[in-house]
Amino acid sequence: MKAAQFSAYGPAADMIECVELPDSPSPAVGEIKVDVLAFPINPADMLTIEGLYAERPPLPATLGAECIARVTETGKGVAHLSVGDLVVPLGRQNWVQQKTMPAKQAIKIPEGSDIQQLAMLRVNPPTAHLMMTQYVDLKAGDWLMQDAANSGVGKLIIQMAKAKGIRTVNVVRRPDAIPELKDLGADVVVVDSDNLAVEVKELTDGAEIRLGIDAVGGTQIIRMGDCLADEAIIVNYGLLSGDNPQLSAHQTVFKRLWLTGFWLLPWLQNTPPKEAIGLYSELANSIASGDLHVPVAATFPLTEIKDAMKLSRDYKRDGKVLVLPNGPI
Ligand SMILES: NC(=O)c1ccc[n+]([C@@H]2O[C@H](COP(=O)([O-])OP(=O)(O)OC[C@H]3O[C@@H](n4cnc5c(N)ncnc54)[C@H](OP(=O)(O)O)[C@@H]3O)[C@@H](O)[C@H]2O)c1
Repeated sequence: MKAAQFSAYGPAADMIECVELPDSPSPAVGEIKVDVLAFPINPADMLTIEGLYAERPPLPATLGAECIARVTETGKGVAHLSVGDLVVPLGRQNWVQQKTMPAKQAIKIPEGSDIQQLAMLRVNPPTAHLMMTQYVDLKAGDWLMQDAANSGVGKLIIQMAKAKGIRTVNVVRRPDAIPELKDLGADVVVVDSDNLAVEVKELTDGAEIRLGIDAVGGTQIIRMGDCLADEAIIVNYGLLSGDNPQLSAHQTVFKRLWLTGFWLLPWLQNTPPKEAIGLYSELANSIASGDLHVPVAATFPLTEIKDAMKLSRDYKRDGKVLVLPNGPI
């Protein structure tokens, strides 16, 4: 079977390769075998290849945070899944044509949704939902602020907030990203600048903003902090600038801002399976109904993983880049 693999840490598009590996074995007791239908390239995957993510796996390494897959074989003792079922694997190493895995790590997904959207279910939708709900008790009419607002996570936050009547201030780094976010239901969209706090104050009529959600890090957090209410919480969940999160002493002492971080992995590890499956089912329903949708910029076969990676890594694209390891879907 074909798989994406890297053998050295470095620039993601240079290091990633499509290689031939032995076929995945038939499933043992309690296991299933699946065909991977589609996977997105996420920033965390690129950071993994660049050696900048939380874990540095031994090389050569396969990778891939998420995918959507179809069951092709079931082992003995697997009662809740059948051949033909659509599943989201909760483990990693998903950038392969086939994989054999514990059945209990697969979430069954009802038929009828857009498969490409389901390929992006495991990581970004729960991240957006949990960051919006776990830190500040926001009610309809309240405001939140986020940067990298035209990212996959950012667009989900806009859609989820709109559904709850929560208003959003969205920071982007280029003006051409504004119309799409407005169409999605964003209340305020601004291009990042040193004048951010003045603009946001004007555009929100001086609203109190108690939650900031940041994926950029560095001095972006200082500019965001200047827009927030005293004692607001900033949740940092990415490092797109490559720079560590920063706040000024004025913000930590006089405004008493709180800076914390979110990472999905511990939530997946520590949440009772029933609760996690419940959230994924809700999110899958929202995808099925079209309430949650993330644009796809392009799809590639697995053999063209380098081109897919290049398009993804260069950013300034119109959506996520997906790879279809077993052909068009
Ligand atoms: N902590 C967690 O558990 C967790 C879970 C999921 C995602 N994440 C993080 O969430 C972030 C977004 O992920 P995604 O999959 O939604 O991303 P995505 O759809 O691939 O979009 C990437 C976004 O990053 C922006 N960007 C890239 N470099 C930037 C920079 N130097 N300064 C400002 N913006 C920049 C891009 O803006 P342009 O369009 O202008 O290029 C685009 O909006 C990533 O940092 C990812 O690692 C974290």
